[in-house]
Amino acid sequence: MSQFGGQRTKSYCNFEGANTAGKETDDIEKFNHWSLSYENSWWQWFLFDRLQRRVLNMAKKGTAPNTVLDVGCGTGRLLRKARKYWPEAQLIGVDPASGMIESARRLTPDAKFYVGQAESLPLPDAKVDLAFSTASFHHWQDQEKGLREIKRVLQVGGLLFLADFWLPFGLSKVTHYFQSNNPSAIRETFWRVGFRVRDQRKLWTLWQVVTVGERC
Ligand SMILES: C[S@@+](CC[C@H](N)C(=O)[O-])C[C@H]1O[C@@H](n2cnc3c(N)ncnc32)[C@H](O)[C@@H]1O
Repeated sequence: MSQFGGQRTKSYCNFEGANTAGKETDDIEKFNHWSLSYENSWWQWFLFDRLQRRVLNMAKKGTAPNTVLDVGCGTGRLLRKARKYWPEAQLIGVDPASGMIESARRLTPDAKFYVGQAESLPLPDAKVDLAFSTASFHHWQDQEKGLREIKRVLQVGGLLFLADFWLPFGLSKVTHYFQSNNPSAIRETFWRVGFRVRDQRKLWTLWQVVTVGERC
């Protein structure tokens, strides 16, 4: 991704695959900076909004959640769309970038937002019926830990819709960010942490893979 308020630093061009704490801090700073223009970014119509609509459409069939969580929620756009599907549900968003959360709170007053990371969610056990994460997974410092946390906050039988970049034809090798995002590796991590994989779809035109896990 290249638009972060026009800034591009070495962590976005790191071909060595290093996964350091410094990278995480850089990421959060970039997202704080981007939060100022995020709502008007062309990435919204080009990718993020389309992706959110696709996963919400997948999720709406047969679900009537009381509580909906978005991990790496940015400015809360997915949750604002979710409100149309589930008008009564409690909506919760978590994101480590405080700038994103500030905008989310302003734009989505009927939802609760917390500054926090996937790897340590500021929520009690078994609180959530339906969880989403779109275009965020490749930023997580410890993806398995993040998935374990989502499992912890989901009720038994609750569903997670995780969508993230998937670059076919070995293209993921051009950046360390997407190397762990191959569909079979994601399925294996889901199984390892205790999700039953209910579905996995490649959205070719959006270069995304959506994995649906049920908390066992
Ligand atoms: C490209 S944005 C996508 C935001 C939103 N899901 C959307 O579709 O508009 C990625 C988001 O992931 C967040 N993020 C980065 N590291 C994270 C982590 N460890 N846990 C949860 N979210 C993280 C960033 O702060 C950023 O808001």
